[in-house]
Amino acid sequence: MSKKLVILGAQWGDEGKGKIVDLLSEKFDISVRYQGGSNAGHTVVIEGVKYIMHLLPTGILHPHNVGIIAQGMVVDLKALQEEIEDIEAKGNKILHKLYISDRAHVVMPYHKLLDKLFEKKNGVGTTLRGIGPAYMFKFMRKGIRMADLFDKKVFENRVKENIEFVKDIAEKVFGEKFEIDWKYIDEEVIKPFQMFKDRIIDTAKYLRENNKSVIFEGAQGTLLDIDMGTYPFVTSSNSSALGLANGTGLSPKYFSDAKIYGVAKAYLTRVGGGPFPTEIFGEEAEILREKGGEYGATTGRPRRVGWLDLVALKHSVDVNALDGIILTKLDVLDGYPEIKVCVGYEYNGKVYTDFPASLEVLENCKPIYKTLPGWKESTKGITDISKLPENARRYLEFIEKYIGVPIVMLSTGPQRHEYLFLKEIV
Ligand code: GDP
Ligand code: IMO
Ligand code: MG
Repeated sequence: MSKKLVILGAQWGDEGKGKIVDLLSEKFDISVRYQGGSNAGHTVVIEGVKYIMHLLPTGILHPHNVGIIAQGMVVDLKALQEEIEDIEAKGNKILHKLYISDRAHVVMPYHKLLDKLFEKKNGVGTTLRGIGPAYMFKFMRKGIRMADLFDKKVFENRVKENIEFVKDIAEKVFGEKFEIDWKYIDEEVIKPFQMFKDRIIDTAKYLRENNKSVIFEGAQGTLLDIDMGTYPFVTSSNSSALGLANGTGLSPKYFSDAKIYGVAKAYLTRVGGGPFPTEIFGEEAEILREKGGEYGATTGRPRRVGWLDLVALKHSVDVNALDGIILTKLDVLDGYPEIKVCVGYEYNGKVYTDFPASLEVLENCKPIYKTLPGWKESTKGITDISKLPENARRYLEFIEKYIGVPIVMLSTGPQRHEYLFLKEIV
């Protein structure tokens, strides 16, 4: 087994990473989340019990697996406390095998407030979890890191300075009165911190010194990456493989022998604003949304839906140097007489097959479709390749040919056992 495995989103998030990481992490010693925060919602269904992981790496659900929240994450300590208590209430003890980086940033109550304010003006439809403002403070060099929580004086001074700054933005830019009672800082940060005090370590050092098998779990997806995604309709971290080194604090050399797989849906969804060339609307969209259960795992928002976009998927393959794709939710396409896939964009008389950086092009291009025949048979829950309908196989082959890397695994339902391998992957 390869010692390092990276599983990340190849589209706009919600590709089914949680389900896949749960399955694949069973044979790993350590699992790591390295970017994002509680904007993520990774669903796992184990023997009918549903878990939605927001901040914790999914692999921690396995009894032997050590979980790491690495330095690239922004952590809402109260949300983390609730997430752990929820899991432990289901009988799975995990806190003693969790480590949090001393360099990870803390999401403060006023970050969430700013997220709300920023959304009022040209919002991008964020999850309102304070993610953008927490990263903004990090890059302004005004953030609060886990290490700062150990020194009361440093912490209090920094928070006071932060509050003055937020007050100015709220009142001068948005004309809104801003007051924050210290009791919120106490409730949402200081109290939960007591629970994690002895879990905070230098996680990069831990990973360097423990020569064990490690699975890295991306949050969001490549098209939401701050640099490689549909900027500015993106999240505020590098959610592609570009975030691995800075997110973990490990040199790129560390990842030279890692295998990297992208999880992609057999169709496409996005939550929040931003370009979506293959989006469908009306009744057609309604049907797909219902069939796929496309409602956000974090915010409950209905997800926008559309056809698989191979221009965007190829971009993901290239950006991440993917070793292959793990295709999920194939079962949702069962029964469609025809299935469309986008093979190019047309804009101003020009055909694009490279994913454009320009928002103008992405927003106004017309997708060029190839229509493939669908299949009547059910693929729901199949675990045997011989049960794969002929036209489903053709669909997969068409995708593979376009993107140039194999589909290594198929997911055919939300439950842990509903999958099949097409290639050996680790
Ligand atoms: P993540 O953020 O990438 O982990 O994905 P989410 O958990 O936000 O959304 C994926 C949804 O699809 C969840 O409700 C999963 O339980 C469900 N799911 C995952 N794989 C499959 C699959 O192969 N088929 C079906 N029908 N549902 C799936
Ligand atoms: P997982 O890990 C889907 C989207 C938001 C919004 C944009 C910015 O479950 O795949 P943010 O709160 O990050 O500042 O919002 O990114 N977004 C996600 N969409 N899945 C996610 O996570 C997402 N996390 C953020 O909807 O458009
Ligand atoms: Mg999700």
